[in-house]
Amino acid sequence: MLSYRHAFHAGNHADVLKHLILVQLTRYLGQKDKPFLVIDTHAGAGAYSLDSGYAVKLAEYKEGIGRLWGRNDLPAALAEYVDLVRRLNTDRRLQAYPGSPYFALWTMREQDRLRLFELHSKDARLLQENFQDSGKQVIVEPTDGFAGLKALLPPPSRRALVLIDPSYEDKQDYERVFHSLKEALTRFPGGTYALWYPQLTRLDAHELPQRLKRLPAKSWLHVALRVSEPSKDGFGMHGSGMFVLNPPWTLHATLAEVMPYLVQVLGLDAGAGFTLEQQEG
Ligand SMILES: C[S@@+](CC[C@H](N)C(=O)[O-])C[C@H]1O[C@@H](n2cnc3c(N)ncnc32)[C@H](O)[C@@H]1O
Repeated sequence: MLSYRHAFHAGNHADVLKHLILVQLTRYLGQKDKPFLVIDTHAGAGAYSLDSGYAVKLAEYKEGIGRLWGRNDLPAALAEYVDLVRRLNTDRRLQAYPGSPYFALWTMREQDRLRLFELHSKDARLLQENFQDSGKQVIVEPTDGFAGLKALLPPPSRRALVLIDPSYEDKQDYERVFHSLKEALTRFPGGTYALWYPQLTRLDAHELPQRLKRLPAKSWLHVALRVSEPSKDGFGMHGSGMFVLNPPWTLHATLAEVMPYLVQVLGLDAGAGFTLEQQEG
């Protein structure tokens, strides 16, 4: 039984990094006319209230989107991301936060398609409700995203972005994401794949980006945002990263501008910092 609910964490520093990059990836794909497919293998509920229910408990958003909300000095890519969050917030107060499915949908064109997978029954139901009016453009599947991904590759349009964003609640996820990406590259080497991972004191979390660098992708980009020193008791997440296989060539320059800003604004102590590295094709 899955117990992870993304609502507890919505809008935290990890969501900021992940959704900022997701927007950059869909925008880039949209520069060519040919339609593309976005596959979100771990979609969550789609949208989250920040002033009621789960999010209030931990209020992680206060150290994520909350710190960007009132700023008027945002780098362009961050400003675009924050503007998208405004779509769920009609007045100036930050009350709700969109999940990855909305960031994808709002930055796609009519001809593009979105496939969403969510295994938790309650979140899958919420996701279906959120997207019930999206017609043919969005398909929600309350099933395993790893299996779903396999079945969808290669896509007929030969253009696709895959977001893999597990909670890593199940420790098998470290192996599953690796093998899933390996197989996806065999089925569809030209896809863009974006994997989110947590920075924890666990060895498998630490090793994951190094393992991903050895996958047979033409190019990759790795970015990580550390907001604090790892905790002394070894619990908790001190940062997170995104590993992108076949990234747009523009992404590195965008992140080189944004990451120092994020460290400055989201950093909690002297351990804050970022990693940005790539291998070009
Ligand atoms: C980190 S959350 C996703 C957040 C979402 N991508 C976003 O950015 O708004 C991970 C989600 O994956 C779901 N999940 C866990 N295992 C899954 C699986 N094998 N297939 C599909 N969804 C899964 C969890 O229920 C949880 O809602």
